[in-house]
Amino acid sequence: MHKISKIAVLTSGGDAPGMNPCIRAVVRTALYNGLEVVGVRQGYKGLIDNDMYDMQSRSVSNILNLGGTILKTARCLPFKEDEGMALAYKNLKEHGVDAMVVIGGDGTFTGALRFSRKYPDIAVIGVPGTIDNDLCGSTYTLGFDTATNTVIEAIDKIRDTADAHDRLFFIEVMGRDSGAIALRAGISCGAEAILLPEKQTALEDLIKNLKDGKSNKKSSSIVIVAEGDKNGGVYDVAKAVQKEISDYDIKVTILGHLQRGGSPSSFDRILGSRLGFAAVNALIAGETQKMVGLQANHILLTSLEEALNQHEFKLEADLLQMVDVLSI
Ligand code: F6P
Repeated sequence: MHKISKIAVLTSGGDAPGMNPCIRAVVRTALYNGLEVVGVRQGYKGLIDNDMYDMQSRSVSNILNLGGTILKTARCLPFKEDEGMALAYKNLKEHGVDAMVVIGGDGTFTGALRFSRKYPDIAVIGVPGTIDNDLCGSTYTLGFDTATNTVIEAIDKIRDTADAHDRLFFIEVMGRDSGAIALRAGISCGAEAILLPEKQTALEDLIKNLKDGKSNKKSSSIVIVAEGDKNGGVYDVAKAVQKEISDYDIKVTILGHLQRGGSPSSFDRILGSRLGFAAVNALIAGETQKMVGLQANHILLTSLEEALNQHEFKLEADLLQMVDVLSI
């Protein structure tokens, strides 16, 4: 078994609350086990730019409560190219790195898998860190819980004003390919309808649903639209509905990047700590090309390939079914 001595840790793609607790756990678990750690700034970009620094226990003091990522993050196109990967490999070797923990979502894992297949002498473990909750092999990804709570807080406030004015609100939430936040937030806030990328809702059905609600004495209504919904975007949906229900005062709110910020919830602090701890232990045990994830409250390993298998990923069927039932 290939024994490791120096771990590089990075965060890549969209930041997610809980990344900092995870970085802290990676650094301290590695040091506790006599390993060295380098932090890479701005994800794969930092690997290519050789932007890395030695981390000690105090490098991660007082960060459990911080949103964002102290290592910073980026979406890095050059890492998709062979030249970019070769440069990253050269820089890692110069630093004496023989293992990596990459914290991010599907784009991060795709890059990690390609890199690791090309340069297998650097072991790689992935930690699912994305508010989108769209990786196989982990019931929850880091940041999803905090982001959903942030969305709920915002929608509760919108409900107050929607109700005061008898208005219909269309609220766009994040999730280019994932309706996870939309679905959970929608159930939590009693949304009248939820439009998701995974399940197409016909506009006629939405309009009928909203008309039924009105004739059923609903004063306000909230429709949550995930960013990746296939009906053409939140403004187009609102326009189409306004054409058919002219007596409803309609407003649109896009929650945007506020969903990614904020202090991580208790759940995300603990999940980040567990996953960071497990990632280092997996590397010490000789694992590579795997993701650490939460399954039935156990931390288990899944191959990166499997983690990326979006076709296997499904939103909870009971949540999908109850949207229409609980909003009558
Ligand atoms: O992947 C996380 C995420 O927040 C998605 O929900 C969203 O579609 C995307 O990132 C936005 O990315 P950016 O911050 O680069 O615009």
